[in-house]
Amino acid sequence: MNAPVDITGVELKTERLTLRSWRESDLEDFYEYARVDGVGQMAGWSPHKSIEESRQVLAMFMREKRTFALEYEGKVIGSLGIETYDERRYPELALEEKRGREIGYVLSKDCWGRGLMTEAVRAVVRWLLDDVKLDFIIVGHFIRNDRSRRVIEKCGFSYVKTIPYDTQDGRTEDSMEYILYR
Ligand SMILES: CC(C)(COP(=O)(O)OP(=O)(O)OC[C@H]1O[C@@H](n2cnc3c(N)ncnc32)[C@H](O)[C@@H]1OP(=O)(O)O)[C@@H](O)C(=O)NCCC(=O)NCCS
Repeated sequence: MNAPVDITGVELKTERLTLRSWRESDLEDFYEYARVDGVGQMAGWSPHKSIEESRQVLAMFMREKRTFALEYEGKVIGSLGIETYDERRYPELALEEKRGREIGYVLSKDCWGRGLMTEAVRAVVRWLLDDVKLDFIIVGHFIRNDRSRRVIEKCGFSYVKTIPYDTQDGRTEDSMEYILYR
């Protein structure tokens, strides 16, 4: 089952990053990376076409209180969301009595390949399992997304299966799904 998660007041520090709630003042940093081709598509959304679009998504982040901003050297360079998972998608895992969520993430293209998202995911996994006391965390990546596959492997998730995923921008793509138990 999906467990409630609220990141209000939570701040996670890693070696290089601070993970914290989004603020209105993050808007320009957000638009700067969300408008770049090749960033959102791998997570199922299209590049933002205007700062107004970013403003609306940012307002949703602030309202829903489940998406961390990743701050690096005083600038927001990415997001990591504690999403709800689709409870019909993993019948073979018998998750009904267990408490879990799914995570999803995006990093500014300028910052790829420095191990930053792996650092962020490890911190969030530790918080979700140790403090929020989730029993499991789900994560998935499109088959062609080798970078995300490596992040997931390095964070210790186990492969479950590959199933079609309906994206926010109206496509369907095969997604490789993984789970990590407490
Ligand atoms: C996926 C993403 C978050 C990875 O973040 P990151 O900080 O660059 O990840 P890391 O640096 O920790 O690891 C990236 C891995 O990909 C590998 N990699 C880099 N370029 C690659 C390429 N062209 N093909 C395959 N692997 C590649 C790196 O070598 C590294 O693996 P390693 O540690 O074994 O060497 C980032 O690329 C991103 O935001 N992509 C767009 C959005 C997205 O895909 N979100 C995830 C949706 S599931």
